[in-house]
Amino acid sequence: MFRRLIALAAGASLALTALTACGSDSGSDSEGSITLGFSQVGAESGWRTANTKSIQDSAKKAGIELKFSDAQQKQENQIAAIRSFIKQKVDVIGFSPVVVTGWDAVLKEAKAADIPVVLTDRAVDSDPSLYVTFLGSDFVEEGRKAGQWLVDQYKDGADPVNIVQLEGTVGSAPAIDRKKGFEEVIGANPNLKVIASQSGDFTRAKGKEVMQALLKAHKDIDVLFAHNDDMGLGAMQAVEEAGLKPGEDIKIVTIDAVKDGMQALADGRFNFIVECSPLLGDQLMDVAKKIDAGEDVDKRIVTVETVFDQAAAKEALPTRQY
Ligand code: AHR
Repeated sequence: MFRRLIALAAGASLALTALTACGSDSGSDSEGSITLGFSQVGAESGWRTANTKSIQDSAKKAGIELKFSDAQQKQENQIAAIRSFIKQKVDVIGFSPVVVTGWDAVLKEAKAADIPVVLTDRAVDSDPSLYVTFLGSDFVEEGRKAGQWLVDQYKDGADPVNIVQLEGTVGSAPAIDRKKGFEEVIGANPNLKVIASQSGDFTRAKGKEVMQALLKAHKDIDVLFAHNDDMGLGAMQAVEEAGLKPGEDIKIVTIDAVKDGMQALADGRFNFIVECSPLLGDQLMDVAKKIDAGEDVDKRIVTVETVFDQAAAKEALPTRQY
């Protein structure tokens, strides 16, 4: 809207009419006048479903017109959606990039069209001048928190602890960063060994499939670290089907803290969850409004998160929103 006003202002008599129509609107839009194009990764996990709901609910509440597109975990779909938002001349583009690389060209196109871009949830490796801000979790820190729990659990033992890791989508920021943070922390403890690490693509089905194969290949798994609850839940089924007790025979540490994961933790089938909040909608709408009003926003907005053990999960479950 702000950009549209500037463009109109350049156009003689029409400019006066347009500015008068908006009265004292010096960059701050009246309700309903901002259009946000949002390209979502997909619907791969409980986290993602909660994130989509948060964005849709918050847009409604904020009076922002949302053009929503689901990329089904495919980068080419996200690029096509962003190009379509540019064509439609939306006011702000938001997206959660499925992978880190390969965005330069489309981000340059958005910049050339003078449409501000907000990264939500996941980062890219492009020049930061191509987007206004990145709003979301610190994934490296999440990996560190998961690793620290293991270090604390096994600090008094001398036996080797065999860990298998289920990584998220290959090339995605959370998969890269969580692995990095986790391995950085456990690396300082020679007893903690990652004996296998494979992608489960952040889905329950893949988590189960990969864990089934890992259980066949390794008879001595002590710990599973899954980059999200869904893969952990799929793997938990594989552990049970192999006749083992999740949470006891194999300890399970995950990231997200969605309801199903929290239930498994409260039931003693998971051991620890690092929270990753999907409730980014309100912050995204605030940022879109500020950008549209020409106000400054921080280049990096980090989500505040906690961790849960089994007792904390029991306490939090009754009021858990997602
Ligand atoms: O980018 C956030 C991650 O993506 C969540 O941890 C995972 O569940 C989702 O699919």
